[in-house]
Formats: sequence, C-alpha cells, structure tokens
Amino acid sequence: MNVLSADGLVLEPQREEHALEMFTVLGDPAIYEFENEPPPSVEWLRNRYRLLESRRSPDGAEHWLNWIVRLPDSRAAGYVQASARTDGHCHIAYVLGSAYWGQGLARRAVEAMIGELASTYGAHTLWAVFKEQNERSRRLLDRLGFEPGAAESQEEHGVEPGECIMTRAAVEP
Ligand SMILES: CC(C)(COP(=O)(O)OP(=O)(O)OC[C@H]1O[C@@H](n2cnc3c(N)ncnc32)[C@H](O)[C@@H]1OP(=O)(O)O)[C@@H](O)C(=O)NCCC(=O)NCCS
Repeated sequence: MNVLSADGLVLEPQREEHALEMFTVLGDPAIYEFENEPPPSVEWLRNRYRLLESRRSPDGAEHWLNWIVRLPDSRAAGYVQASARTDGHCHIAYVLGSAYWGQGLARRAVEAMIGELASTYGAHTLWAVFKEQNERSRRLLDRLGFEPGAAESQEEHGVEPGECIMTRAAVEP
C-alpha cells in the first residue's frame, strides 16, 4: 500500500503500531451515534490491525485497505477504508473523531483514497452504504458526487432496512 498525500493530510497504510493512538481517537462516543461501537481494548485493536495487515479478505477475493488520516500537526484524526474487488467494484467507508468534523478533512481524505483506488487497484465503481439517519455521511457523499444507488443495487450489495446506498465512478486523479 502507498502512503497518500491529500492536500496537507497524509494517509498512512494502517499498521499494528497505530493501535495505541487510534484507540484514543476511536474511543469518541459521537462516532457511534448510528452504528458500531468503540474497540474494547488497545490489545483488541492491535490484534485487529495485525490481522488487517494481510490487506486481503479471508477468501483472498478483495483487497482490504485502511489508511490512517494524519494531520499536519501529526495527530491522527481517523481512518478511511476500502474493500476493492478484482472486478473493479469497491466499497468505501470513513471515520473521523468528532473533534475533526466540519473542516472538510473527510472529503480531502476520501478524494485522495478514491484516486488511489482507481489508479492502483483498478476500481471503476464506488459504493458506500450508510444508515439513513447519518446525515453527515450523506452530505459527504453528496459533496463527493455520489448518487443514490438503483433499487437493484440494494439487494446486490446487501443493503438492510434503514440503510442507504450511494455510488459514483472512480476516476484517477
Ligand atoms: C461521516 C464523517 C466522516 C463526515 O465528516 P465531516 O467533517 O462532516 O465531512 P467533510 O470532511 O466533508 O466536512 C464537511 C463539513 O466541513 C465544512 N467545511 C469547512 N471547510 C471546508 C472545506 N474547505 N471544504 C469542504 N468542507 C468544509 C463543510 O461546510 C461541512 O460542514 P457541515 O457538515 O456543517 O455542512 C464524520 O461525520 C464521521 O466520522 N462520522 C462518524 C463515522 C461515520 O458515521 N462514518 C460513516 C459510516 S458509513
């Protein structure tokens, strides 16, 4: 995985060594208003990050890619994530600590990741699934040029009741 630069931000390939600082970032309860929960311990997160360093799904069919988002002052703000299939379809996700919301940081980080997905991983179609009440996530996707997925895509991508799916083409920077 490459280190990416995003208009002042640095996206570092996630490694086991990031667990301690990310445990603090991911302990922010605001992140989990709509889904998921914080990591239970640093050790748990370290193990998870170690496993994810394979950069592959267990069946080997997808690249599982995670980048830590680092600010110019060297603080870690969150992460961006993609699962890239060999057929060019790619699911993305993104999480920042709430102290870093409202500054356009997620947009910059996700845009940089999208460029990398297109140029290095052959992605041509991006997908994002989110809880329908998660307006911040929807606004981010709107700003990035995503559009609601067609009804058929909901079943194809396992979208559950109360979730939305949005899509756009991946383009090289
Ligand atoms: C989803 C999430 C990453 C969005 O973060 P965000 O900071 O709102 O997103 P952006 O980086 O696009 O920032 C946009 C905001 O910054 C503001 N902004 C300030 N300067 C800006 C700039 N130069 N460029 C763009 N936006 C800017 C925008 O006006 C916007 O503010 P608004 O939300 O009040 O309209 C964040 O809410 C999050 O981590 N949530 C918890 C995890 C989560 O739900 N993840 C999604 C699961 S699918």
